[in-house]
Amino acid sequence: MILIVGNVLKDVYLNLDTKNEPFETDKNGTKWLDFSFNASEHHFFNRHSSFGGAAVSLEVLQKLGLSATITDSDFSFDEGGPTKSTPADSYRYILISDDGVSYLTPNKLQITEFIAPNSSVDYIYIDRSANLPKSATDKLLNYLENHPSTKLILYIKDLKIEHVNTLKNHASLIFSEVESIDFEKTVYLTENSLTFKNITEPITVDRIDKLTHLSFYSIAAATILGSFILGKTIEKSLKITRANLENSYLDSTLTLTELQDISSRENDDLELIAASLVYSGKGILAADESGGSIKKKFAELNIPDTFENRHSYRDIFLSTPDIENYFSGIILFDETARDHTDTGETYVDYLTSRRIIPGIKVDQGLEKFKGSDETYTKGLDNLPRRLREYYEMGLRFAKWRAAFNITLSENGEIITPSDNAIEENCRILAEYARACQSAGLVPIVEPEVVYQGNYNIDTCAKITAKVLDTLFKELENFGINLRACILKCNMILAGKDYLPSSTPEEVGQKTAEILKDHVPEDLAGIVFLSGGQTPEQATDNLAAVLKNGPFPWPITFSFARAIQDPALFSWSGDNNNIEKARQAFLDRLIANKTVLED
Ligand code: 13P
Repeated sequence: MILIVGNVLKDVYLNLDTKNEPFETDKNGTKWLDFSFNASEHHFFNRHSSFGGAAVSLEVLQKLGLSATITDSDFSFDEGGPTKSTPADSYRYILISDDGVSYLTPNKLQITEFIAPNSSVDYIYIDRSANLPKSATDKLLNYLENHPSTKLILYIKDLKIEHVNTLKNHASLIFSEVESIDFEKTVYLTENSLTFKNITEPITVDRIDKLTHLSFYSIAAATILGSFILGKTIEKSLKITRANLENSYLDSTLTLTELQDISSRENDDLELIAASLVYSGKGILAADESGGSIKKKFAELNIPDTFENRHSYRDIFLSTPDIENYFSGIILFDETARDHTDTGETYVDYLTSRRIIPGIKVDQGLEKFKGSDETYTKGLDNLPRRLREYYEMGLRFAKWRAAFNITLSENGEIITPSDNAIEENCRILAEYARACQSAGLVPIVEPEVVYQGNYNIDTCAKITAKVLDTLFKELENFGINLRACILKCNMILAGKDYLPSSTPEEVGQKTAEILKDHVPEDLAGIVFLSGGQTPEQATDNLAAVLKNGPFPWPITFSFARAIQDPALFSWSGDNNNIEKARQAFLDRLIANKTVLED
């Protein structure tokens, strides 16, 4: 039994919409936000709260299968999870904004009392959140004297507190954020590395996002401690800990089985998967319209939006013979990824057995920015957890779409997309890509400049260039391995309402120019979306782009509408038309493959 000594705090994470927040700047240039708090008055993209401090250590140790308990007496578990009546003035606010992460912590530190346990415990772990008065350390020392088999594990945050430092002499293991600590068995933790003093080189950790920042140290220490208790070697313990830090999400740390699985999967070759997806001569089918998009498509053809109809529709494409000759990968929607073929296999297993790599759409649609018609893409909440599940199901790549609508003023000036929308969406795309690469899936990043409106081809080129520049800057900031990442991009062409329409020659030349100038050479590949072009237009334009090669990356198609729509119309909800629909689908596949081979 491990007794955790520390405080449970309530952490509230706010991803702030800084453009809409009334920050006040003081004479020193520091920005302040009034938190005398009515949450409904503030604007944030995400709000999330969880128990921090010692509760994080408790969760980690329990997820590792160890029995642990906590000294904070008003903290308990009920069936719905942990509970505690925490007064709002003891919350820690973690603010995430364009300027970085900042923390608001309560002025008054909670005091941690040491209440000696009734029965003997194997370990006493002084958590990072502990704020021990001298009376508590005295009681603790007294307990240790009377229980010589109990081991003390100490997290020292502040070396200046003398009575805490005296505990050093009784500790079996110390965690510290300060390198200079004079104790042999010390694990030194920084914001992105873990080192066992004098034994290991620093092992670096790439955090998925900044949200876990405050919990980072607690997760790190508790996972190392738990791994040691479970008898893992120092190297293995640090690797398990890295897996936990890179994949945990706020209040959800990983179980021992998940951690062992991830830390042994480190050598999975994401670059190879990415290269296989853009392998020349084949495309990637986007069969991943969301529930909402399918409903709309079906409504236009008076097809009832039932599970049976959605299943039949997907099955037209997925069960067509020989599709492995046309597709290296297929992107599924969650419903299809969990669905089965008529012979009872999951579609994921079935595609894999046909040597088609199954992928998954993981964004959860568009949401408007406060007070604006522009959108950002939702779905980061719980993303690591969902990706882990998808990996277990056999999915090996993912897709996330951001949409940028071009609108112009009467005299032709660009109103949208705004810089803010571009920056925010690209940051979100990069955060998603990071989560994918940590979870063993290849990310497809899809920033789509929407083919709608009456803008000319140069405007499309200008906006696409800006979006790509921002995107690749963010991907770099997030440390994305570009050789394990695919760009899904719009072609460069005038908006649908603009006359005359762009010719394939113009589209080919402009698209090639923009991509060559704005996409780094070490990217794994580029695939095109069709974006509402007619099926023939998309194929002709793809051919025209390829004529402007060679390119430093493989290029292929990843259409949804331009491949599926003719089949949808042929089927129209009547299963007697399935063969006809499959033929319409194959016609498009042959046309596009011919273009790739020319
Ligand atoms: P379209 O080819 O219909 O544009 O769809 C591609 C896609 O995957 C959108 O996210």
